[in-house]
Amino acid sequence: MQKITLALATGLMVLILVWGPAVSAEEEMCVPMGEITLSPLTDEPERSEVTFPHAVHFNYNCQQCHHTWDRETPITSCGTSGCHDLAELPKDDQGRVTADAEQKIRYYKNAFHSSCIGCHKEIKKENLKAEAMQLAGAVIKPTGPTGCIQCHPAE
Ligand code: HEC
Ligand code: HEC
Ligand code: HEC
Repeated sequence: MQKITLALATGLMVLILVWGPAVSAEEEMCVPMGEITLSPLTDEPERSEVTFPHAVHFNYNCQQCHHTWDRETPITSCGTSGCHDLAELPKDDQGRVTADAEQKIRYYKNAFHSSCIGCHKEIKKENLKAEAMQLAGAVIKPTGPTGCIQCHPAE
């Protein structure tokens, strides 16, 4: 019980600090505090679903990921129509990808990979540099997974 209360209190604190002041009382939004299951948009996925620990990422500005959020209306899913809603890349009848740059990032897989893996890799890269300078007091930062099966536990 105590643990749950503490977790909730921490969750609320984060929201009040990061995001509380900007949202008016009548615009309520339910913010998932635990794990979110991210599912493929296709009926024939190659990989298993991804478990995403949302609140672990609340050190970041919400708009780091919810990059079109206006801070007033409720946040919508990444797969909302017109956002990252393409279940596959458009191809010609020979199977060659014909997607332009806009379609490439509308393809949900590319959007997730570039955001999730992109950020985790960037931190890893900084850590490699920091390791070389550790004696000078450089700090190694925690980061997230970059390997396929770490995010997609089953093939
Ligand atoms: C590291 C990226 C990241 C950060 C930072 C982040 N979120 Fe999220 N959030 C996500 C992802 C991914 C989803 C799942 C979206 C989906 O299902 O398409 C999500 C879902 C949500 C949802 C549910 C939206 C729906 O589908 O109904 C809300 C609300 C939300 N986030 C609020 C926040 C708030 C508030 C913050 C800042 C405190 C925040 N998020 C920070 C990545 C992030
Ligand atoms: C802007 C940077 C950033 C983005 C974008 C981001 N992450 Fe992370 N992620 C982190 C950092 C930093 C950590 C380490 C947090 C910690 O341990 O304190 C992390 C940790 C994780 C972990 C491990 C959590 C744990 O408890 O060990 C998972 C799983 C993860 N991220 C999945 C994702 C997924 C899936 C996405 C995309 C929807 C994503 N991340 C997007 C920065 C990011
Ligand atoms: C940081 C987490 C993360 C890592 C690492 C990662 N992915 Fe993903 N991947 C996702 C997310 C999130 C999605 C979109 C949601 C979903 O499909 O479950 C996705 C979608 C996919 C899809 C499209 C859906 C499907 O199953 O057909 C494929 C294929 C895929 N990833 C393959 C890979 C491969 C191969 C690797 C390693 C090179 C990899 N992923 C590494 C998070 C990750």
